[in-house]
Amino acid sequence: MKGTEETIAKAVEYIRNSRYLTALTGSGVSAESGIPTFRGKDGLWNRYRPEELATPEAFALDPELVWKWYAWRMEQVWAAQPNHAHYALCKLEEIGFLKALITQNVDDLHERAGSRNVIHMHGMLKVVRCVECGNSVELIEPPTVPPLPVCNCGGLLRPGVVWFGEPIPEDVLKRAFDEASFSDVMIVAGTSALVYPAAGLPLVVKRKGGAIIEINPDRTPLTEHADVSIQEKAGNALRGILNVLLS
Ligand code: OAD
Repeated sequence: MKGTEETIAKAVEYIRNSRYLTALTGSGVSAESGIPTFRGKDGLWNRYRPEELATPEAFALDPELVWKWYAWRMEQVWAAQPNHAHYALCKLEEIGFLKALITQNVDDLHERAGSRNVIHMHGMLKVVRCVECGNSVELIEPPTVPPLPVCNCGGLLRPGVVWFGEPIPEDVLKRAFDEASFSDVMIVAGTSALVYPAAGLPLVVKRKGGAIIEINPDRTPLTEHADVSIQEKAGNALRGILNVLLS
């Protein structure tokens, strides 16, 4: 497609000339690995109610229901493999362009593809936390529920992700906003750009005079602010960028 080739060439120009390139990713980047997104036709929030599954109140009311849902999502992530988008972002870091990768995703596919400097704004599925002693534990495999997973101290373990109504840990938030403020170019891939504070990161880059490269087959509230909008799936678009960059 000629239009896509042109936008990819424009994106590569921004990347080549960048001083400090970062990326913000969302669930669309893992869609090609078979992990469902949240919004859109087949999105999780179309089939499930977040207030019944992803809030501290829901967990207090029915921990088994919440745990079963997270165990099911963990199974999907454990079975999934990184896709071209994850690998291309890793390569961009390896060759020295990408300085940091901020993700809203709770899977570990960026790390499994080899990315090193990854900031998980919404936590990670594999890291769970005790509601009593606060200790964090990394799971080797998804739990079978029931029984409810418990900590060595006897307290109930909870998914370590950030739920609706919960703040993002201060240190994580600071790292993410610091990276955005250092950036002169940010790739924003596979996010609906609706959930704040993550959706505010590209706007920080713009306010400081930087450029946004958006990769998303659909338009988002960010599209009108983007300097380059690649309306393609993340796997193809990022692989395309890398091929041109390395050619
Ligand atoms: P969304 O489900 O809101 O948006 C996914 C975006 O990915 C949409 O804009 C799609 O058009 C796009 N998309 C789908 N397939 C794609 C592909 N192959 N390549 C590129 N883009 C594709 O997911 P997020 O923006 O990640 O929060 O959602 C943000 C937060 O809302 C999540 O982290 C989660 C959710 O509630 C918490 O759980 C706290």
